[in-house]
Amino acid sequence: MSKTVITYGTFDLFHIGHLRLLQRCKALGDKLVVAVSSDEFNSTKGKATIIPYAQRAEIVQNIKCVDIVIPEYSWDQKKEDIRHHRVDIFVMGDDWRGKFDELAQYCQVVYLPRTSGVSTTALKGFLHTTGYNESNQPFESS
Ligand code: CTP
Repeated sequence: MSKTVITYGTFDLFHIGHLRLLQRCKALGDKLVVAVSSDEFNSTKGKATIIPYAQRAEIVQNIKCVDIVIPEYSWDQKKEDIRHHRVDIFVMGDDWRGKFDELAQYCQVVYLPRTSGVSTTALKGFLHTTGYNESNQPFESS
C-alpha cells in the first residue's frame, strides 16, 4: 500500500541540508507532503525570513521529490494535517527529537539526522560576519 510522509520547516535560503532532508523523507514512502512555515507563523515565533512564504513554497513545490506543499499556520495543525492527508509517517530533523512523540498515536514518528555544517542560521551568520560581496569565496560547510 502507498505510504504518505509529512514534514514541516521554514526552508529559508534553501540549502543542501534542506534538499537531503526532503530526499530522505521521500525515501521513507511514496508521497511527500511538506508544510512550509507561513510568514505569520514565523512572526509569532519572533522569526523573520529573508525569502517570503510564496517564494519558499514555490521552491519547495518544485523539488523533484515533493508532491504537495501546504502552509504551516500554527503549532496545533499537525493532527488535522495527518488526518486530512492520510499520513503514515511524520518526519522531523533530529534537532526536534522527542518533541512530537505524542503524534505516535496517529502515525509513525521519525526523527532524521541533520546534514552537518549547514543551516540557514549559519548562512545568515556567514553573510553578516564576512560582509559578503561577489569577490568572496562561497560558503564552505564545516
Ligand atoms: N535540516 C537538515 N539539515 C540541516 C538543516 C536543516 O536536515 N543542515 C532539516 C531540519 O531539521 C528541518 C528541515 O531541514 O527538518 C527544515 O529546516 P529549517 O528549520 O527550515 O532549516 P535550518 O537550516 O535548520 O534553519 P535555521 O538555521 O533557521 O534553524
